[in-house]
Amino acid sequence: MRTPIIGGNWKMNLNAGDGADLAESIAEGLARGPLGAEVVMFPAFPYLALIADVVESTPPMLGAQDAHQEASGAFTGEVSLPMLEDCGVEWVLVGHSERRHVIGESNEIVREKLHAALNAGFSVILCTGELKEERESGRQLEVNRAQLAHALEGLPAAALSRLVIAYEPVWAIGTGLTATPEDAQEVHADLRAALAEHYDQGVADAVRIQYGGSVKPANAAELFAKPDVDGFLVGGASLKSADFLDIINAVTAAKAEGQA
Ligand code: 13P
Repeated sequence: MRTPIIGGNWKMNLNAGDGADLAESIAEGLARGPLGAEVVMFPAFPYLALIADVVESTPPMLGAQDAHQEASGAFTGEVSLPMLEDCGVEWVLVGHSERRHVIGESNEIVREKLHAALNAGFSVILCTGELKEERESGRQLEVNRAQLAHALEGLPAAALSRLVIAYEPVWAIGTGLTATPEDAQEVHADLRAALAEHYDQGVADAVRIQYGGSVKPANAAELFAKPDVDGFLVGGASLKSADFLDIINAVTAAKAEGQA
């Protein structure tokens, strides 16, 4: 059975004090247990080392929202994987839709970043997701499959043990519009089928696929009830400890019920 995984993507929000307070209350909330999921928080670059200290020896893990594909060099403004390792980071987000569609990262750059992060020993959440017009024209499966195929090109099956995929439909991010559980399940199942075609069914069954896009305490349980939804990548609701903990608790409760 796949261990659920929940990420909190803080994006370009919070200052040092508010970020440390949020991380502390999440760590305290999780310590009250039981905890049926892995939890990763993704603060902005300047606060990674600070938050690493706050969550040291506690369940939440630490991730970076991006990383450059080169280990060092003349790349003004960029942050390398060895720098992130220095800061206590274990996870890296790759290919978030805001990086693809706002910053302009191509499928090729996403692929280079994914391979670099996995080669450097990080665990990675690779995001895919279709635009509103792509869904409206019924192309959601094709778009997500293409993004996945580009990113995985040349990646050996062994590397997938440290890979999580996040399906984040762009039209659902920060909009309050959530994919229905059926919409999410359709894409998740198809991404898993694509993994089985690229590798084999065993690999496909082991890779966790998160849903992201306006996940809230009120919709987490019904989305998580779908068989191929293995957790969430949460934006806005991860900035409020009560909401983020409620989402984690909903997943923990559903998992416990499933095992009972
Ligand atoms: P929201 O939860 O704010 O819609 O953001 C989702 C997201 O982009 C997480 O990476």
